[in-house]
Amino acid sequence: MFFALNEEQLAVQEAAREFAQKELKPGVIERDSTMAYPTEQVRMMGELGFMGMMVSPEYGGGGMDTLSYVLAMEEISKIDNSCSVIMSVNNSLVCWGLETYGTEAQKTKYLTKLATGEWIGAFCLSEPEAGSDATSQRTTAVDMGDHYLLNGTKNWITNGGSSKVHLVVAQTDADLGHKGINVFIVESDWEGVSVGAKEDKLGIRSSDTHTIMYSDVKVPKENRIGENGFGFKFAMKTLTGGRIGIAAQALGIAGGAYELSVAYAKEREAFGKPIARHQAIAFKLADMFKDIEAAKMLVYRSAWLKDQGMDYSSASSMAKLFASEAAMKHTVEAVQVHGGYGFVKEYHVERLMRDAKITQIYEGTSEVQRIVMSRNLLKGQLYIPVTGSGVHV
Ligand code: CAA
Repeated sequence: MFFALNEEQLAVQEAAREFAQKELKPGVIERDSTMAYPTEQVRMMGELGFMGMMVSPEYGGGGMDTLSYVLAMEEISKIDNSCSVIMSVNNSLVCWGLETYGTEAQKTKYLTKLATGEWIGAFCLSEPEAGSDATSQRTTAVDMGDHYLLNGTKNWITNGGSSKVHLVVAQTDADLGHKGINVFIVESDWEGVSVGAKEDKLGIRSSDTHTIMYSDVKVPKENRIGENGFGFKFAMKTLTGGRIGIAAQALGIAGGAYELSVAYAKEREAFGKPIARHQAIAFKLADMFKDIEAAKMLVYRSAWLKDQGMDYSSASSMAKLFASEAAMKHTVEAVQVHGGYGFVKEYHVERLMRDAKITQIYEGTSEVQRIVMSRNLLKGQLYIPVTGSGVHV
């Protein structure tokens, strides 16, 4: 097995780390406090190529592999998870889905602007009564001949206020269940689209999460993605890749809290020596180290499997589940390592702890990841194979 990153991947990692430290860290506490949307920071992410990293250069993207995207997500998530979720949704849920399943006309019209960050995209699947149970869509799109008429409400939509392009999941034929679901490209300024107030959240507070209402919105026929009835599969396939991005976010959160904890524990003294020299703290750091390295292997491998064109469904669920649980557990520990300082905003770890929670919820809860993995293993996938080698890891 070969674990080294190539030169391009190392350069992306370095660029993202530098950007996060220089441009995101100053102001991140204030943005979290005031819930101010990071307009300028998102503009810079577009300029630096972080908004369409995997999109082919033909459509204005960076043409990079999934591992490069993961490395960038990880570094940015060590500092600012509002920025990293905005980036993740645009890259993996919107751009990837459009590039993989969109028509040439859809790619030319929408992807070229989304890949550069000129436009931001939102993925509109969740509803007040359809979260984990994603097939229970109440939003409807009625075929009117030359267009569809869209009606419904979507909840907890990341990029809900800032996006120009919505990928909206809707039921076109309730009798067909998940086979009667389609996805439509909707522009946010079309008549009948309205956006509710920004949610006041526990974490990722400056990202813009909104309810979006669609009332008799006319959607041109050519804005349906894929064959009639492909929508649920489109959502599932897109989320399978999206989960790698969120796993990388969780890995970054855990890594950020760990780096801060190591630095603090080496400096802070108690009972005559740095607290890192006390076993009570040293063992916490060792456990963080272990789980972050394990999460890294799972997250990087899921990205690698995707790039090899291999099945990455269990791998991405496993990576997201493990990394998000590690992020939650170790950000709590990071606050503990920092003691009283950990409980105040200035030291960053309390924010990372609040941000960690959402990684166990969005793009499929931890319970949904277990559904995906257990179904795959019961179908016969006992291990995740490695191409051609006959080796199982
Ligand atoms: N790829 C391709 N097809 C898939 C698939 C996948 N990964 N997963 C399921 N399917 C197909 C199945 O094969 C099946 O098709 P057939 O009938 O033709 O065989 C069809 O989809 C229905 O599958 P299931 O019977 O497994 O569906 P289910 O109702 O039991 O639900 C589930 C399965 C895994 C729980 C799914 O509903 C799910 O993933 N729920 C979570 C939704 C989610 O992640 N929401 C996140 C919202 S977006 C977000 O959070 C973005 C953000 O803001 C950051």
